[in-house]
Amino acid sequence: MSKKTLVITGATKGIGKACAYRFAKEGINIAFTYNSNKDMAKEIALDLEEKFNIKARYYPFNILEPETAKELFAKIDKDFDNIDYFISNAMIYGRAVVGGYNKFMKLKPRGLNNIYTATVDAFVTCSQQAAKRMTNGGAIVSLSSTGNLVYIENYAGHGTNKAAVEAMVRYAATELGEKGIRVNAVSGGPIDTDALKAFTNYEEVAAKTAQLSPLGRIGQPEDLAGACYFLCSDEASWITGSTLIVDGGTTFKK
Ligand SMILES: NC(=O)c1ccc[n+]([C@@H]2O[C@H](COP(=O)([O-])OP(=O)(O)OC[C@H]3O[C@@H](n4cnc5c(N)ncnc54)[C@H](OP(=O)(O)O)[C@@H]3O)[C@@H](O)[C@H]2O)c1
Repeated sequence: MSKKTLVITGATKGIGKACAYRFAKEGINIAFTYNSNKDMAKEIALDLEEKFNIKARYYPFNILEPETAKELFAKIDKDFDNIDYFISNAMIYGRAVVGGYNKFMKLKPRGLNNIYTATVDAFVTCSQQAAKRMTNGGAIVSLSSTGNLVYIENYAGHGTNKAAVEAMVRYAATELGEKGIRVNAVSGGPIDTDALKAFTNYEEVAAKTAQLSPLGRIGQPEDLAGACYFLCSDEASWITGSTLIVDGGTTFKK
């Protein structure tokens, strides 16, 4: 019997990388994407194969070109017989979010549209391709953020699109249930990754998060990876259309 396979976008670092290691630890094959960091992707694939005796392959994919999901999954088909889990994780920042990562009065359509493309469109096109291949059922998870529940400076573009992707998750879950596919979101509080370091007020957010959390620390990528694994596992067999908030208790205290 073939092993299970996870497809995940953006696993060169941060939460995506932690998810790849979490699933590989369970003997699950990993097909992951990178955008700019091909050398790191190669290093991670070799390390996963060596440490966990699984098959790991990496593919280029730009979430600003979600229509290329079809080509991405055609490549994955050549390396893997089946797909069981898909995690929509990759996110843009830097130049692509100019006009989207800003105060409300400075928001501009191009930046906002880029965030929608990268968040919602990429989730939709990749999930469609993954779901077609989940012939024995499966599970899909989208990364979301508590920035759609509480105010984070300059986060209006991301926050509104995370709210949108959570709604899309509920629609997908409703229509894919008959195929035995569960669809959920993991909504994280601030996690210490490069994406957070790209915030103009990173130091302040990091310090405030540790102060707000009853656990006294900022989140780590592994904190979300465990939640993603749980939602894909049989332990979550009747959880679908849900958003699991993993925020170290910060949202309530905000
Ligand atoms: N960090 C947080 O505080 C936090 C909290 C809640 C939710 N999240 C969510 O968790 C997810 C992962 O965030 P993270 O903090 O782990 O980010 P990260 O460490 O900065 O990693 C981002 C990943 O996305 C890839 N990527 C960047 N631009 C891309 C593009 N145009 N097309 C395809 N892939 C691209 C990167 O690939 P390359 O390295 O190859 O360029 C990298 O693998 C995101 O959906 C984010 O919104 C994050």
